Amino acid sequence: MPTHIGLDIGSESIKLVAVEKTGDKYVLVAMSHGPTPVGALKSKNEIEEQSLIAAVKAVVDSAKAKTKDVVCALHESDVFTRVVQMPSLSDRELSSAVRWEAEQVIPLPIDEVIYQHQVIRRPEKDVPGAKMDVFLIAAPKLLVDRYQRILLGAGLHPKALETEMVALARSLVGNNPYSPTTLILDFGAEATDMSVVHGGFIAFTRSISSGGAALSRAIAAELGFEMAQAESYKRTYGLMANQMEGKINHAMQPVIAIVLEEVKRVLAYYAEHNPKDPVRRITLAGGSARLPGFVVEIATALGIEVQMADPFFNISHRPTQELADEGPRFAVAAGLALKEDV
Ligand SMILES: Nc1ncnc2c1ncn2[C@@H]1O[C@H](COP(=O)(O)OP(=O)(O)OP(=O)(O)O)[C@@H](O)[C@H]1O
Ligand SMILES: [Mg+2]
Repeated sequence: MPTHIGLDIGSESIKLVAVEKTGDKYVLVAMSHGPTPVGALKSKNEIEEQSLIAAVKAVVDSAKAKTKDVVCALHESDVFTRVVQMPSLSDRELSSAVRWEAEQVIPLPIDEVIYQHQVIRRPEKDVPGAKMDVFLIAAPKLLVDRYQRILLGAGLHPKALETEMVALARSLVGNNPYSPTTLILDFGAEATDMSVVHGGFIAFTRSISSGGAALSRAIAAELGFEMAQAESYKRTYGLMANQMEGKINHAMQPVIAIVLEEVKRVLAYYAEHNPKDPVRRITLAGGSARLPGFVVEIATALGIEVQMADPFFNISHRPTQELADEGPRFAVAAGLALKEDV
């Protein structure tokens, strides 16, 4: 497999991972990151787009990867994903049936979106009326065009665009049939995204706009700190109730409660529709997963196994503390880099 770059343009930072496939092994060949200019990702302004292009270019240059081929992720909240049930059809019949289905479920005019589908489960043969599960994904054309402009502007060759959750499902669960049904929680800076992954496929996704930045803002507001100071206290003391008289923990609780509440809802929704197969594990990705005390907090609140994302598990690399620590933050980029057939 020729090397390609996995690029995750987050609202706070840009993360890059490149892997090379040798035989059936993946080897880590490059990794780098850099700041996203504040507000540039969501802005429609030309100057901010240029500053984002420059920031992407800086991250790519510092990785010194040999290739310009790139797979990039669209933000989960910008895309529409849904598993739909459809009659059992051949691949040819399906492509036209999907357009009709897409028109029904996608909340935007069909000519303004780019959509793709993937069959995730076909019914047992000869079961009359049995349905198949189809994963449908759609993004506004204008958004896709913007990503293309940014990537081309940075001198890259865009090979594919995916969603963050598709990338995370690949790097954290893969097609391992022994993985239990897993909830992946990407606790980022501006967003927290969740998905339930079963048998390597995404069954359900959900996105909320509370993340690590909201934690820092809450600390700054409650304790009268500057943002940089709040950020540093957050990273040092986190949710540890025995530090700073529990003040940092206390300030962050409203935001933590929003995140936990949403996770509970997702778990309950999935259990209701799949009573024989509840979620058995939560895997934490995103920079905010490293919030001290978060793993214990979430495991205690939900009574479920919680683990930190290790997207480098199946990628040969020289083990370092940095790589172990940065795994959750680079999990999207690693999943993009592991995409085959691009
Ligand atoms: N050690 C730490 N403890 C707590 N939070 C941390 C730590 N390290 C990083 N963070 C937080 O992680 C967040 C950045 O994570 P990440 O890089 O996953 O975000 P992003 O991908 O840029 O954002 P988004 O996915 O929301 O667009 C920031 O809010 C930062 O404060
Ligand atoms: Mg992110």
